[in-house]
Amino acid sequence: MEPSTRTPLDVFAKVQHHERAEQLAAAKEQDVLPYFRMLESQAGPVVEMEGRETIMLGSNNYLGLTTDERVKQAARDALEQYGTGVTGSRLLNGTTPLHVELERELSELMGTEDTIVFTTGYQSNLGAISAILEPGDTVICDSGDHASILDGCKLSGARMRPFRHNRMDKLEAMLKRAREDESPALVVVDGVFSMEGDVCDLPPIVELCQAHDARLMVDEAHGVGVLGERGAGACELFGLEDQVDLRMGTFSKSLASCGGFIAGPAEVIEFLRISSRAFIFSASAVPAATGAALGALRVMRAEGAELFAKLLDNARYLRQGFRDLGLKVVEPGTLPGGEEATTPVVPVIVGEDWQAVLLWKSLFDAGVYTNVALHPAVPPGGALLRTSLMATHEREHLDRALAVFERVVGDYPDLPRA
Ligand SMILES: Cc1ncc(COP(=O)(O)O)c(C=O)c1O
Repeated sequence: MEPSTRTPLDVFAKVQHHERAEQLAAAKEQDVLPYFRMLESQAGPVVEMEGRETIMLGSNNYLGLTTDERVKQAARDALEQYGTGVTGSRLLNGTTPLHVELERELSELMGTEDTIVFTTGYQSNLGAISAILEPGDTVICDSGDHASILDGCKLSGARMRPFRHNRMDKLEAMLKRAREDESPALVVVDGVFSMEGDVCDLPPIVELCQAHDARLMVDEAHGVGVLGERGAGACELFGLEDQVDLRMGTFSKSLASCGGFIAGPAEVIEFLRISSRAFIFSASAVPAATGAALGALRVMRAEGAELFAKLLDNARYLRQGFRDLGLKVVEPGTLPGGEEATTPVVPVIVGEDWQAVLLWKSLFDAGVYTNVALHPAVPPGGALLRTSLMATHEREHLDRALAVFERVVGDYPDLPRA
């Protein structure tokens, strides 16, 4: 047989030669890989990780409700009543009374006509955006928006016009271009940006959208259960809830479970129920997850004020502690009244990727868990150690964590300083 002259083609080639392969191998070899570390206990303020007691500063369990007895009981009750799974899509056999109650109570929280519950937060963004937009439409996103938003935009086939993070002049330019194209536009922003923890500049965004007839959607994944008196998120904090067309949230953060939702006008939500492919062609969440989300929502609505205050107080305390150590933190931005827009996400700026990984490991070895954000999650050279707070952190936990930071950062003279 003649030897083949064809160039070998293999879709798996990238598995060995992707841009991160070398770094990943080196990090694994030195046991500094900050991913897939083993959590061996419940997700509280202090956890067991890889055999050691560790202060958890890397969780989105903002209200600490994953270990709340009432929330756990709600999950158990749902499991007992509806079994381990519903094995089908919400559209067919996957809607239980729990979903109906959850959607009703979320609509009350968000002050909207209706709400649709998805199996994950990721699917909520993906499924809503890809159903609402079509080729010929324009979608305008902040460059810091979550991946689930960007993936939904790509899937929709709409023209994507990203703008520089929180830059209103750039947003305006994109809105003008959509107008020139005679293309209906949707603007999508995170209410609280997941990595940097800063809030979107909502008042001018609303104004610009109205001036250019664009619809506005806000992702409240890190806003629900955190910001506003009711905990409805950044839109509530700014007093602009009824100026925003759609609001998305997840259960995987403050609401102590897994799942997500879109809240908005009844006709749009009803349209999503029959046309969102991520909703129709994926199984409904397991009853325990839906029950836990409903349980957490009820605790939050009853006792939220105290929890939100403690959570944000903890965030202020840790941020000040980092500043006192001379570390550079991402500044949280300001509200129209001039006060600091505190969120539970307090990132320490590290700069170079490899330095962030090594610092992360030193902290982990000393009993503090943080999240590492590397490019492409952040801009190149903008690596962060993202810390996040819980309402169940006590001062003692934060003081211990700060003492560890103080000890460890001495070994990193190149760290950006305030
Ligand atoms: C801003 C934002 N939107 C959406 C999501 C997706 O939510 P989930 O992880 O619950 O699927 C996340 C979570 O990572 C997020 O941070």
